[in-house]
Amino acid sequence: MTNCRILVLNGPNLGHIGLRQPEIYGSRGMDALGDMLRDSLGQDVAARISLSTFQANGEGQLIDRLEQAWRDQLDGIAFNAGAYTHTSLALADCLAWIGIPCVEVHLSNIFARTDQPLRHQSLIGRSAIGVIAGFGMMSYVLAVGALWQHWLQKNS
Ligand code: DQA
Repeated sequence: MTNCRILVLNGPNLGHIGLRQPEIYGSRGMDALGDMLRDSLGQDVAARISLSTFQANGEGQLIDRLEQAWRDQLDGIAFNAGAYTHTSLALADCLAWIGIPCVEVHLSNIFARTDQPLRHQSLIGRSAIGVIAGFGMMSYVLAVGALWQHWLQKNS
C-alpha cells in the first residue's frame, strides 16, 4: 500500500507553538501532532501518512523547502505561513507553480481578529485547496485529514 506524503510547514514565529501567546495560539505544541493525528484519524490511517515537518523564520528558506517538496513530488502541504500569509507574494508565487495540494492553516481565527484587519487578507489562500483557521493545534490535524481525503479521492 502506498503512503500519502505530507509536509507540515510553519513560517515565522511558529517555532514555539504552545509557548507563544497561548491565549491566542493555544497551549499545545507541535510535539502533540502525532498523537492528535492518531486519535483523530485512527491508527490505520495515521500509519499511511508519512509526515515531515519544517519550520523557518525566513521567506527564502520556506521557498527552498517548497521547491524541495516539488522535487520530492510530495502529495500535500499543510502550510501555516504566519505573518507571511498576509504579505508574501513570493510564497504565493511558489505555491502557484509547484502545484502540490496545499491547505492554509492558522492556529487562530484570523477573520475574528477584528482589531487587525490586515490579518483577514491572505495571499496564500488563492493557491490553496482550502483554509482551516481557529482550532489551535487541531487546525493542523484537520488540514492533514483534508489532504488525506483529497489524496484518497485522486488515488482510488
Ligand atoms: C497565524 C496568524 C498570523 O496572522 C500570525 O502572523 C501568525 C500566526 C496563526 O496561526 O494564527 O504568526 O498564522
